[in-house]
Amino acid sequence: MEDFSCLRLLSVLFVLELLSLSNGTNSSAEQECPIEIQPDTMVLEYQSRGQAAVCKPRNADSNVKEIFWQIQPDRNISNKSWKPDVSKDWDLSPVCHGYFDGIGWCNKTLLYILYKPPENVSIDTKDNSTSTVEGGVMELKCSIKDVAPAENLKVHWTWQKGNETVELGSVGANNASSCSFTKKRSPVNVECYINITLNRTHHGTEVRCEAELDLGPKGPQPPPSANSYSFILNVSYKPKINTTKLPKSVPVIRGYKEELVCEADGNPPPKIQWHYSSRTAFLGSNGTLIVNEEGTYNCTAENYLSRDTHVVQVELKEDYLPLLAGFVALTVVGISVIFVTIYSIYYKNTKMRRYSLKNPKLSTLNGNVAHNTWDIQLPVTKLS
Ligand SMILES: *[C@@H]1O[C@H](CO)[C@@H](O)[C@H](O)[C@H]1NC(C)=O
Ligand SMILES: *[C@@H]1O[C@H](CO)[C@@H](O)[C@H](O)[C@H]1NC(C)=O
Ligand SMILES: *[C@@H]1O[C@H](CO)[C@@H](O)[C@H](O)[C@H]1NC(C)=O
Ligand SMILES: *[C@@H]1O[C@H](CO)[C@@H](O)[C@H](O)[C@H]1NC(C)=O
Ligand SMILES: *[C@@H]1O[C@H](CO)[C@@H](O)[C@H](O)[C@H]1NC(C)=O
Ligand SMILES: *[C@@H]1O[C@H](CO)[C@@H](O)[C@H](O)[C@H]1NC(C)=O
Ligand SMILES: *[C@@H]1O[C@H](CO)[C@@H](O)[C@H](O)[C@H]1NC(C)=O
Ligand SMILES: *[C@@H]1O[C@H](CO)[C@@H](O)[C@H](O)[C@H]1NC(C)=O
Ligand SMILES: *[C@@H]1O[C@H](CO)[C@@H](O)[C@H](O)[C@H]1NC(C)=O
Ligand SMILES: *[C@@H]1O[C@H](CO)[C@@H](O)[C@H](O)[C@H]1NC(C)=O
Ligand SMILES: *[C@@H]1O[C@H](CO)[C@@H](O)[C@H](O)[C@H]1NC(C)=O
Ligand SMILES: *[C@@H]1O[C@H](CO)[C@@H](O)[C@H](O)[C@H]1NC(C)=O
Repeated sequence: MEDFSCLRLLSVLFVLELLSLSNGTNSSAEQECPIEIQPDTMVLEYQSRGQAAVCKPRNADSNVKEIFWQIQPDRNISNKSWKPDVSKDWDLSPVCHGYFDGIGWCNKTLLYILYKPPENVSIDTKDNSTSTVEGGVMELKCSIKDVAPAENLKVHWTWQKGNETVELGSVGANNASSCSFTKKRSPVNVECYINITLNRTHHGTEVRCEAELDLGPKGPQPPPSANSYSFILNVSYKPKINTTKLPKSVPVIRGYKEELVCEADGNPPPKIQWHYSSRTAFLGSNGTLIVNEEGTYNCTAENYLSRDTHVVQVELKEDYLPLLAGFVALTVVGISVIFVTIYSIYYKNTKMRRYSLKNPKLSTLNGNVAHNTWDIQLPVTKLS
């Protein structure tokens, strides 16, 4: 039993050893093609100066029998140096082949891209049938003219209102549900689409698309890109009366005027109309109504999409200020009357008491003095 398990363990170890060996041989075999390409990456612009790629054995003393470029499956070049034609060599996949003693044939691929920044980028609606009404879906089209290679293209959609820019999304041209183009590496026209669910905040915003050629880290930095002009969204939306400016109930003081402001947001700008039965109300400027009577006033804002109605109840408020003033005046007069009456009664009583107490001879003098004194101090008594 023990021997058997030991044997199994050994066999497992052996298999593991084999696996690791095969792994090692695999990776070393890949590294063994002793070819060096200079430069190892070529990202060239259309009609630029161009550049030659040289293919040579990594070690000068290596046993190379043959070394050449294969730039297309059916096109070999019997030269270590190869220079692409930057006005037409779009569709090449250059591979350097070498035959080495002890190794045989092996090859190395050159990363080669001939690119052309877009000629023109423009933005428009997909077709005339696309919606421009709030809640609808607008399909926008970004047309990129004459760009290569299209599969390296990335399209960014941005949305701008004032100085605020929002990225709507970006998509690679390879995304078949958003972009379409003829699948080849030479310059083609690319069309990309985006769907926007419209709402009123979009009205007047500018949408742009930017086409960027993403050529990887060995490509030009920053990547070549081109912007479209902005497309200004014109969204039609239903009118909505601003109820902060027009409450449901408005008081008006008798004898005064009140301005009812009916403002509505809508596109196209809504037509404002007032319906009322008052004979004294009249229209002011900018959709205002000037009222001085109670009643029901009905404002409607209407465009081709719909109509919004807002009913205002105007309530007459009496002007209580004159009434209040009158009341106060009356009270003052009343109090004065009461006071004077009380005083005059008291005054008469004093006089009578003095007559009864003092000498009748002095009465004239006394009376005069008293009269004078009180006359000066309280002239009000004269009124009664
Ligand atoms: C080793 O090479 C063979 C054929 O070239 C391949 O099928 C296999 O996946 C490679 N194994 C590893 C571990 O790379
Ligand atoms: C080019 O070279 C490859 C690799 O050696 C070879 O298989 C192919 O037949 C050659 N093609 C032509 C057209 O010479
Ligand atoms: C190989 O390329 C070099 C450089 O482009 C050129 O000078 C030379 O003539 C070429 N040789 C052949 C045989 O085409
Ligand atoms: C390059 O070599 C690999 C094996 O190392 C081979 O599979 C491939 O077909 C070769 N490429 C070309 C273009 O001949
Ligand atoms: C790009 O194309 C649009 C629409 O075709 C055109 O109106 C615009 O003038 C073009 N711009 C340039 C720079 O060619
Ligand atoms: C789209 O609109 C343009 C201009 O407004 C017009 O010339 C064209 O015929 C319309 N196309 C369709 C399919 O309605
Ligand atoms: C946009 O402009 C306003 C004033 O016009 C400014 O207050 C605001 O900070 C700006 N926002 C940004 C993001 O620049
Ligand atoms: C936009 O919407 C239309 C209709 O619903 C749909 O056919 C199209 O695939 C959508 N496009 C994108 C880019 O989502
Ligand atoms: C309108 O669209 C903007 C941006 O797409 C969004 O932020 C906003 O919430 C939307 N408003 C409504 C009322 O749907
Ligand atoms: C309504 O009017 C108020 C007061 O003038 C204003 O602050 C607000 O922005 C307006 N609302 C709309 C939707 O225009
Ligand atoms: C009417 O409204 C416009 C725009 O809102 C404003 O420029 C104009 O001053 C207003 N007129 C009056 C008399 O309020
Ligand atoms: C307001 O006036 C419009 C137009 O005459 C009418 O359709 C609507 O029913 C009125 N609304 C009310 C609440 O009176």
